[in-house]
Amino acid sequence: MSIDFENITDHTGVRIYNFDASKNVNENDLNEIKKLMQDKHFICFKSQKLDENSLINFSKNFGNLESYPEKNKTKKNIQIFNVANVSADGEHLSENDPRVVLQKNNSRWHTDSSYRFYPALYSLLFGKETLPKKASGGQTQFSNMLLAYKSLPDDVKEKLKPLHQVHSYNDIRRLEPSLPELSIDEKRNFPPVTHPLIRVHPDRDMKKSLFFTSNTSLEIGGMSFKEGKDLHSWLVNFISNEEFYVTHEWELNDLIMWDNRVLLHRVLPYDYSKYRRAMIRGTIEGTNPVYGPFSQIN
Ligand code: OGA
Ligand code: MN
Repeated sequence: MSIDFENITDHTGVRIYNFDASKNVNENDLNEIKKLMQDKHFICFKSQKLDENSLINFSKNFGNLESYPEKNKTKKNIQIFNVANVSADGEHLSENDPRVVLQKNNSRWHTDSSYRFYPALYSLLFGKETLPKKASGGQTQFSNMLLAYKSLPDDVKEKLKPLHQVHSYNDIRRLEPSLPELSIDEKRNFPPVTHPLIRVHPDRDMKKSLFFTSNTSLEIGGMSFKEGKDLHSWLVNFISNEEFYVTHEWELNDLIMWDNRVLLHRVLPYDYSKYRRAMIRGTIEGTNPVYGPFSQIN
């Protein structure tokens, strides 16, 4: 390995100190990064100097970027999502601004773009403005769903096998009723989809993981709404276990990158009106639908 890294835990995450993501990456380094992502699912690159364009350039090494043409999410480049309680022009937004409400929704365990038929592969998030050390909250947590699946009781594994969750961009409004209605285009672009609760990973020896989200819809296909919500709450409780997750304490200019197929993530709530927090995100498109135990993979 020519890239030095340190493990965060034995199952999830590494930190890399001596790497400049604003420069072109050579093939050897790129392969090492991809291997680390495959093995550890989360990388924090310390002390980066990035802007929208250089984040896009670095992200493109891993695939095509998703676009976010929706109003207010982006300013210059539609591939960059402003994950911030600050507008793209730098104005600290009020707590009730829909852009901030979307940030609050990120404090529920989720995997990015699960409302798409091909959910996201990787997300890359660069910390432009982070909270002062004395502030509470603002950390991002990542829970390892390969590990969580392995730890499930056998009868639960059996019960989950045929089930799918409904993922609906529109249904965020059930959780956050103050959000404005979606535009007609958004509704057309993102009709509800379902994904298996158990995800099968062909590129990981057909290993299985849990795959669900708490920030869009809570419905489970084939169950009553109440039964589905109860199962969902059980799963949330099960994976919110320190055995499975790591906590990223942000420092200015961290670039973090995670595998959405394997990890769920959430931000810990902070005082949105007191502190500014601004990040930019590039998101790598998934390359296939979510395979489950009954999918025809080949
Ligand atoms: C995201 C996200 C969490 C955070 O950008 O997808 O969920 O810590 N962010 O802001
Ligand atoms: Mn997210």
